Amino acid sequence: MFATLEQLPPDPILGLSAAFREDPSPDKVDLSVGVYKDRAGNTPVMAVVKEAEQALIAAQATKVYLPAAGSPGFREAIFRLVMGEDTQDLRPRSAVLQAAGGCGALRLGAELVQRAQPGATILLGDPTWPNHGPLLSGGGLQLARHPYYDTATRSVVLQPVLDALESAAAGTLVLLQASCHNPTGVDPTPEQWGQILEVIVARRLVPFFDIAYQGLGVDPDTDAWPIREAARLLPEMLVAVSSSKNFGLYRERTGALLVLAQDRGRASAIESHANKAARALYSMPPAHGALIVETILTDAQRETAWRNELAGMCAHIRGLRSRLAEGIMAARPGYDASWITRQQGMFSLLGISRDEVNSLREQHHIYMGYDSRANLAGLNQDNLPRVAELVAPLLPGD
Ligand code: LMR
Repeated sequence: MFATLEQLPPDPILGLSAAFREDPSPDKVDLSVGVYKDRAGNTPVMAVVKEAEQALIAAQATKVYLPAAGSPGFREAIFRLVMGEDTQDLRPRSAVLQAAGGCGALRLGAELVQRAQPGATILLGDPTWPNHGPLLSGGGLQLARHPYYDTATRSVVLQPVLDALESAAAGTLVLLQASCHNPTGVDPTPEQWGQILEVIVARRLVPFFDIAYQGLGVDPDTDAWPIREAARLLPEMLVAVSSSKNFGLYRERTGALLVLAQDRGRASAIESHANKAARALYSMPPAHGALIVETILTDAQRETAWRNELAGMCAHIRGLRSRLAEGIMAARPGYDASWITRQQGMFSLLGISRDEVNSLREQHHIYMGYDSRANLAGLNQDNLPRVAELVAPLLPGD
């Protein structure tokens, strides 16, 4: 049966991470997969997560299945985290489903849309996270790409984005990364968001937000602002939420799908269909990570501790951005590297060629995406000067 299957190349992101682990060089630097790292280059369990996990385990009396839609406490908490405190009018017309990470939420959302509008199209900016396509098309959606980013100016190409939205049929989905754009690090400005949402409203399009780095750009509320603004303006939208990065729960596969519907009855119908889709995919979501998030966000003291810890991580990444920009400018006098400090989140698309990326890896043991996406959280005081020096001459522009 399986004789027809040829060996596939490794995943463009996870494959690099595996290659990094196998590299015996003491000089190796991992700027590949998007995980937070501390000053020592480790990805520790957050202190507040450790404490909540211990409390959770001590209190846990059963491992019986969660409901298909997930833990009710987690669902309420994650809705409040994304949508904000003032959401009394939104919650009744929302369906909230716990999902297996942000990936699970994207896939579940696609499955749900497929049930409502078979063959629906989703617009994706180019570039975007390489797994968006497989997750969304795997759930039955048709993909349509449009330009998002201008390499020369390192900014959003607004007009082509607006043109793509203008020419889309009513009901077309639009994938939007709420903040900390993966892979570029370049988000629309608030003015640009305003223009994007204006066309979405006018053309009756349906946003499908992906929020995977909430709190690692500016703070959790600012990073969720485009979603909250869209919720104020639109009758329907979907949001895929990940708790992987901002709670450091990567392997626990914790996330949620939020769907805003026209009314309470529709939200309930959506939930029933999402439950059925989930039942056919994996039955019910994993509990542990979601219960940790719930334990944190349903306790004011723990929530404050989490916000503070997350703010520290965010500040650490911002500090690395500044030091990298300084290092590059020191290595290349006259070059303006301030764009690095204006970007948000972990990633920066450096704009160097694939050959240069390969030679940084092969000769200097510096691992980054083949598209030159660098996870800047992988820098630290030991490796940063060397990375700055090696990358500086390769950056395009004057
Ligand atoms: C990344 O973009 O590196 C992360 O979101 C991890 C992944 O699954 O690709």
